Amino acid sequence: MTIKKRIFLSNILMFILTPIFSFTIFFFLYITFGGIMHFEEREPWMAWFSFVIPITVGISTGYVLTKILFKRIVTSLDILATGVREISDGNLTYRIKHDKGNEFDAVCADFNEMAVRLHEMVEQRQSDERNRKELIAGISHDLRTPLTSIKAYIEGIKKGVAATPEMQKKYIDTIQEKTEDIEYIINQLFLFSKIDIGEFPFNLETTDIGDELNKTVSSLSDEYTKRGLEISVEENINEPVLIDIIQFRNVMQNIFNNSVKYGRQENGKSVIRVRKYGGHVAINITDNGAGVPHEMLANIFDVFYRGDASRTAPNKGSGLGLAICSRIIGRLNGTISAENAEAGGLRINILLPIQRSE
Ligand SMILES: Nc1ncnc2c1ncn2[C@@H]1O[C@H](COP(=O)(O)OP(=O)(O)OP(=O)(O)O)[C@@H](O)[C@H]1O
Ligand SMILES: [Mg+2]
Repeated sequence: MTIKKRIFLSNILMFILTPIFSFTIFFFLYITFGGIMHFEEREPWMAWFSFVIPITVGISTGYVLTKILFKRIVTSLDILATGVREISDGNLTYRIKHDKGNEFDAVCADFNEMAVRLHEMVEQRQSDERNRKELIAGISHDLRTPLTSIKAYIEGIKKGVAATPEMQKKYIDTIQEKTEDIEYIINQLFLFSKIDIGEFPFNLETTDIGDELNKTVSSLSDEYTKRGLEISVEENINEPVLIDIIQFRNVMQNIFNNSVKYGRQENGKSVIRVRKYGGHVAINITDNGAGVPHEMLANIFDVFYRGDASRTAPNKGSGLGLAICSRIIGRLNGTISAENAEAGGLRINILLPIQRSE
């Protein structure tokens, strides 16, 4: 029952109970002592009784009813105070159990809602902190590996280990290659952090997805055929989407590069299918490689995640490609996910909202 209703009921009860109790006590005194005290002869006593008794009974009734009423309020406040104490002691999973139907119900529900939010925020902060540590560990490792090689090759040249001009050329070529690896990682990292903090300008234009994919494939297919990957569009639709063309191509290239690196080394294939999916276009890009172990599928979009956990082959990549793709697609209000295709191979699924003309 709400406290408002209880106060209202208490007041009504006070008005009803006071005359009843007063009359009962007065009647009892009259019956018991009326004869002895000769009330009929002692008018002032009677007047005194008829004045004091209702007041005493009124105050007592009010006191008892107020106590009952406030017990309820104090209990609810105690429950809330316990909740606040638990949360401030760090027990963020604590939730208040509360009865429905009084004013505290809403406060307790808000308190629980706040506790849920706080819990989520703390978890998010912890996960960000974990990611930050992984990011720093990933950058340090991926930069240190080529740097160590560069140092070793320079040392080799200085100490005359590379004695012949051919050897020296080989050493210098390797140094150049390792420097390019470092440059690639730094560029990827720079792009990732810019997109991640929302500082990267997106040039959004309404584009026909079918035409755009055909153009992308025809401009890239020669290059990828040489690298051992045959790209084809097997199903397509013409729907308008709002994209930054350069960044969208960047996503497609990241996916094709992965199929080259981690897919089949001979007769590699990447098949694109575009379908309508509710208010979205669904773009599936499936290769014919070995795919990704099921338990790792959810991680491949994480920053610096690489299937090669020991990072023994740094030249294969830095683990930023799909994290960048995920940020880009997110900025286009779409989603990107991965699954293993029935016939093996990795399938990347992109959903982009269809741009409705107003
Ligand atoms: N087509 C694929 N087939 C099998 N494994 C894949 C494929 N694409 C990605 N992966 C796995 O997912 C991991 C993450 O891919 P991602 O593109 O983010 O990083 P990367 O290719 O290692 O580095 P980067 O793209 O920065 O050069 C890869 O290391 C690989 O293990
Ligand atoms: Mg990649």
